[in-house]
Order: sequence, then structure tokens, then C-alpha cells
Amino acid sequence: MKRCRGLEQELSEKTEALRKSEEKYRSLVESAEDFIFTVDESGRFQSVNNFTANFFGGTPSQFVGQPLTVLFSEAIATQQRKLIRMVFEFGKSVRDEFMLEMGEHHTWLSANFMPIKDEQERVVAVLCIARDITENKKLENQLINTEKLASMGTLAAGVAHELNNPLGVMLGFTDLLLEKCDKDSQDYQDLKTIERHSLHCKQVVENLLSYARQGEGEAEYCDINEAIEEIVGVVKHSLEMNDVELRMALSDDLPKVKGDLRQVQQVFLNLINNAVAAMKGGDVLEIQTALDAGQGKVRVKVQDTGHGIRDEYMEKIFDPFFTTKSEGEGTGLGLFVSHGIVTKYEGTITCESRTEDGPQGPRGTTFIVILRARGKGAHYEA
Ligand SMILES: Nc1ncnc2c1ncn2[C@@H]1O[C@H](COP(=O)(O)OP(=O)(O)OP(=O)(O)O)[C@@H](O)[C@H]1O
Ligand SMILES: [Mg+2]
Repeated sequence: MKRCRGLEQELSEKTEALRKSEEKYRSLVESAEDFIFTVDESGRFQSVNNFTANFFGGTPSQFVGQPLTVLFSEAIATQQRKLIRMVFEFGKSVRDEFMLEMGEHHTWLSANFMPIKDEQERVVAVLCIARDITENKKLENQLINTEKLASMGTLAAGVAHELNNPLGVMLGFTDLLLEKCDKDSQDYQDLKTIERHSLHCKQVVENLLSYARQGEGEAEYCDINEAIEEIVGVVKHSLEMNDVELRMALSDDLPKVKGDLRQVQQVFLNLINNAVAAMKGGDVLEIQTALDAGQGKVRVKVQDTGHGIRDEYMEKIFDPFFTTKSEGEGTGLGLFVSHGIVTKYEGTITCESRTEDGPQGPRGTTFIVILRARGKGAHYEA
């Protein structure tokens, strides 16, 4: 009898300990900021934590017993079902990444699918713990892009260097022959064609070489407003001719920015030329400069109301030779070289664009160039 009571007590203590431990894990799972859920063999949710349910705008009980497709797209659910089947079959964890598309937003998840086994080591369910890795993905992509641009730059500059001398020789001899030819002859016209195309090659080569010359980004500083005003002076006439309105909002008393004047001007000349090419009569080009004192940076905005850049091109605009312009009109080096110049001076250049008016704003393209201000804190040097 005594022994029986002892067993009873042991049982109730064990039950209590089990309850406590279950509670502890439940609260751990519930307060976790990770997606945690379990799925049975038929691919239905057995349990879903609050974080997951909240993320998809519901409560856990709404999703339990439902198939994966209540939360995930058909494509992702199929991919997950495949992984779940593997876990059931081999009893081992598998890991994968998924991209969830929710309207405009993309969320990247890194998910681990693990077997839950019974005493006989049979898999009875699959536990999934997934984490939002969107920020990491963005950084990773940026790094890949920067590295890609840097290595393409090195290659392109090497080729340009090799082409530079023979091109010079070709142009020199063309010039000699032109002098010997009668201006009305067919030969003269043919030589002129050769000259025109060689000059086009030379322009490409020079652009690439200016990328290669970028060197270390010595500590030079220039007046950004002056740089922009000079460029605008050059293109003003063509803006007027095209009936494009120019709005300038250059902030006074800006500190100097890190960068060689001529190279910084090349960046803005490229941006303005691109904007002009995308606009027609009645459009507006706006150029703004402003000091971001807290960051010690100067921010330049070049905004146009032109035709915009299609989503599928956005990733490519900084690539060398990417152009949507017809042959002879663009080499596709403008933004590539600009990107190189800005990053050499520890600045950044970013772009936002819309091809149609939408809820996020009217159509057009905005380039933001951020350059380092001279001096520190409250003591910027003008
Ligand atoms: N403001 C803009 N509006 C619309 N499209 C743009 C704008 N800026 C750049 N683009 C797009 O990006 C592409 C690449 O621009 P980038 O300046 O590198 O080369 P490009 O202008 O075509 O040629 P290049 O500058 O060498 O003469 C352009 O062909 C165009 O499709
Ligand atoms: Mg251009």
C-alpha cells in the first residue's frame, strides 16, 4: 500500500515536471521571432507558432489542419512538400531557402526541416524552423554586384588599354590618307566612314580607361554646386531646345565634397545626359543638393519625369555596355563609369524609377549620389 502511494506521488511529480517542461517549450516557441511549425506526412499543419500566424495575418488555430498552400504559394508549397517527403523517408534534417512574395515585398527565408521521431525512431512529423534572411540576402547581392562590377572593370580596362595604341595608329593613317584624297572622291567618303567608326571606338576606349585610371581616390575635394552649375551651363541650351524645364535647388554653404572636380562633373554630365535622353517636351529635370550634417555627407538628387527604367533593366543599368539606346547613340558606359568614380571617393549612387504613374509616385527616374563632406562634425570646410 505504501509502495503504491509512493508510485502515485512519483507519477504526479513526473506529470507536473512534464507539464512544466512542456509549458517552457511552448512559451519558447510562442515568443520566438522565428517561423516555427510542424507538418504531418500529408503536408498539413499540425501546429503553427504565433509569429508565423501573425506574419500571415491570422491566428494559429486558423491554420492548423490546413495544407501548406494556405500560407505559401503553390510553387513554394511544392518545394516544401518535396523536402518534407525527404525528411520522412530518410529521417534527416534538410535546409533550404525560399522567397515569399507578398505584394511588392519579398521576404527571404532560410528554413530547416527536422524529423520528429517516436520511440521506435519512426518519423511522425516534421518540424520547420525558418528565419527571415532578407537583409542578409540584400547585402549579399550588393556585394556580388560590387565585385562583379570591379572584376568586369578590370577586364574591360585591360582590353581598352590593348586597343588604345592600335586605334591611335589606325586614326593616324586614316588622317594621312584623307589628306592625300580628293574630297569629292569615293575613297574620301570611305575613309571618313573608317574615321567615324574609329572615333566611336576611341570614345569607348577612353571611357574604359578613365575607369581604369581611377586609382586610389586621392584626397581631393571640390565644390559640388560649382561642378553642377558648370555642367548645367553646357547642357542648358539643349534642354531649352527640347522644351524641358530645369529646376535647380542648390543648397548654400555646402562643404566641399571628396572627389576630383572633372571626374565628379563626368558623373553629373552622364546623369543629366541620360535624363535628357529619356524626356520629351514638357518634362521636368530637377537637380538638388543638400547637406546631411549628421552623416557628414552631401546628397545630390537628379530627378527626371522621363519614360523611366523597366524593372527588368534596373539590375543591369550599372553594367558596362548595358544600353537600351540604338547603335551609335549610347555605349552603355555612362553609368558604369559614374559608379566607378563615385565609389572610388567612398560615395554611393542609387537609382529609383517608375515607368508609369502609380501609388508610389509619378513616373520618372531619380538618381541619388551621396558624397563625403570635407571636415568633421560641425566643422565642415567650405
Ligand atoms: N534617367 C534615365 N531614364 C531612363 N532610362 C535611363 C536613365 N538613366 C539610365 N537609363 C537607362 O540605363 C541605360 C544605361 O545607361 P548608361 O548611361 O550606362 O548608358 P547609355 O546612356 O545607354 O550610353 P552612354 O552613357 O555610354 O552613352 C540606358 O541605356 C537607359 O536605358
Ligand atoms: Mg548615359
